[in-house]
Amino acid sequence: MKAIVNTEYGSPDVLQLKEVEKPTPKDNEVLVKVHAASVNAYDWRLLRAEPFIARLAAGLLKPKNTILGEDIAGRVEAVGGNVKQFQPGDEVFGDIAASGSGGFAEYVCTIENLLVLKPARMTFEEAAAVPMAAITALQGLRDKGQIQPGQKVLINGAGGGVGTFAVQIAKSFGAEVTAVCSTRNVDMVRSLGADHVIDYTQEDFTQNGQCYDLIIAANGYHSLSDYKRALSPNGIYVMLGGSNAQILQALLLGPWMSIRGDKKMGSMTARPNQKDLAIVSELLEAGKVKPVIDRCYPLSEVAEAIRYLEEGHARGKVIITVERNNH
Ligand SMILES: NC(=O)c1ccc[n+]([C@@H]2O[C@H](COP(=O)([O-])OP(=O)(O)OC[C@H]3O[C@@H](n4cnc5c(N)ncnc54)[C@H](OP(=O)(O)O)[C@@H]3O)[C@@H](O)[C@H]2O)c1
Repeated sequence: MKAIVNTEYGSPDVLQLKEVEKPTPKDNEVLVKVHAASVNAYDWRLLRAEPFIARLAAGLLKPKNTILGEDIAGRVEAVGGNVKQFQPGDEVFGDIAASGSGGFAEYVCTIENLLVLKPARMTFEEAAAVPMAAITALQGLRDKGQIQPGQKVLINGAGGGVGTFAVQIAKSFGAEVTAVCSTRNVDMVRSLGADHVIDYTQEDFTQNGQCYDLIIAANGYHSLSDYKRALSPNGIYVMLGGSNAQILQALLLGPWMSIRGDKKMGSMTARPNQKDLAIVSELLEAGKVKPVIDRCYPLSEVAEAIRYLEEGHARGKVIITVERNNH
């Protein structure tokens, strides 16, 4: 089968389209024929082994797993003897990072608990756009952010993969949502249901005197004290993504800044699981959430897709179309 392989760490230049052996499912595994995958910041971080400490898990000198790609959508081709939930022919999607990634390939083996059935009316590309970004948004809002109906919620970085899902999921919880993005994304985030939109090229939301019950930072730089100032009493700040410096600040200073006063400053790493993917799937089925797709690249152009995402201005999700025979 064809796959995009990286046998060393580095820039997207090290990625190669290769012919590799088609995997065979173990007893607890499902073999999926991948129709589409999506690109996440997780891919370029793993590719570049950034931050360096990531090498402890991913392989000290070279990557243990040589095929990237976490979000997949495809058709079950075969199942191992102990698999209970799926059978050949089922259309599925999921985030397979916990089973070692491998989605940038024609076939991948993964465990059944990372997959759910794809809503029938969605294309494989739409389904592949969903898992990691939507589950991150859901868990950030619900678990770390403790979102409540009627709350004033601000999403910074609302135009990206995580942000576009965060706006819609926050609306589905009944929040009053303010989305922060650049000029070219204002109409798009409004169409996703944002009640208010702040164009960060025109206005700094941390300086305008407005306060929010929950702030989700998917992207964009502000100091922790700026974010804290923009929180209402008892407000919660959740950092989901940003630069390495920002992640470090939130991890080290966040707990310390939360000790005094009634505002909570924290960060969160998403934990993909079948239950939350099923919740997201229900939101998709109900039409309350829809993926925003920026661009689709063929499998042979994964390197270009990762380069584009790394520029930091993707609008929604970047997709890899693996198998063209889609509906
Ligand atoms: N915590 C977790 O478990 C977890 C899971 C998944 C992802 N993440 C992280 O979440 C972050 C977001 O990921 P993503 O998939 O949404 O893609 P991304 O490539 O990081 O975000 C792209 C978006 O960021 C926006 N942006 C860039 N600069 C901005 C600024 N100064 N202010 C506001 N928005 C700005 C861009 O909008 P404009 O073009 O309008 O500027 C673009 O729409 C990444 O850092 C990723 O590592 C974390």
